[in-house]
Amino acid sequence: MIKIAITKGRIEKQVCRLLEKQGFDMDPIFNKNRELLIETKDGIQMIFAKSNDVLTFLEHGIADVGFVGKDTLMESDYHDYYEMLDLEIGRCFFALCAYPLYKTKSFNRRKRIASKYTKTAKEYFAKRKEDVEVIKLEGSVELGPVVGLSDAIVDIVETGNTLKANGLEVIDKIEEISTRMIVNKVALKYKKKEVLDLIKALQGGKE
Ligand code: PRP
Ligand code: MG
Repeated sequence: MIKIAITKGRIEKQVCRLLEKQGFDMDPIFNKNRELLIETKDGIQMIFAKSNDVLTFLEHGIADVGFVGKDTLMESDYHDYYEMLDLEIGRCFFALCAYPLYKTKSFNRRKRIASKYTKTAKEYFAKRKEDVEVIKLEGSVELGPVVGLSDAIVDIVETGNTLKANGLEVIDKIEEISTRMIVNKVALKYKKKEVLDLIKALQGGKE
């Protein structure tokens, strides 16, 4: 039995569809209602969790394998796992975004940066030796510049539609994001075959 913690929603659907294509019986998952733990005939136990909690379940040995976005991995302080596979789905990127004026404007004070991803934002500016004030927002981060709370934002960009609709643009790309498969270090030792079989399946049966 391999225990998988998976991010609820889009990641869950995409990964399960990939596994189904490789012959895994995912019907119990596709037909579930509000259950949060499902076992399949192929010896998979899957728990459906919020992205940050996927890491918590891995850290505490509840899950052998986790499926999360690279954004979640970057934002977390927990790194004691192996990142085994880039599934190349759920592609988007972290970016510094603002009104076009940001690029030419001179600031005679600390810049204010709004973000849901404060660690990523702080690391980005620390690398540039720029001292900024990072303000945490839980969502609709684009509001930062729109309402005058911040000069710029660090956020996820997928199609760019949200930026465009609010008159903002990408100032700098920070990091590519996609869904990753991570593995608990102990699990890789004791469930090596199960883990490697899962990787092979997700790679499309390639040797
Ligand atoms: C995400 C992200 C951007 C938007 C990017 O927000 O924070 O705002 O999607 O997608 P786009 O480039 O295709 O427009 P989400 O809609 O998940 O809401 P939230 O930030 O309020 O949580
Ligand atoms: Mg958003």
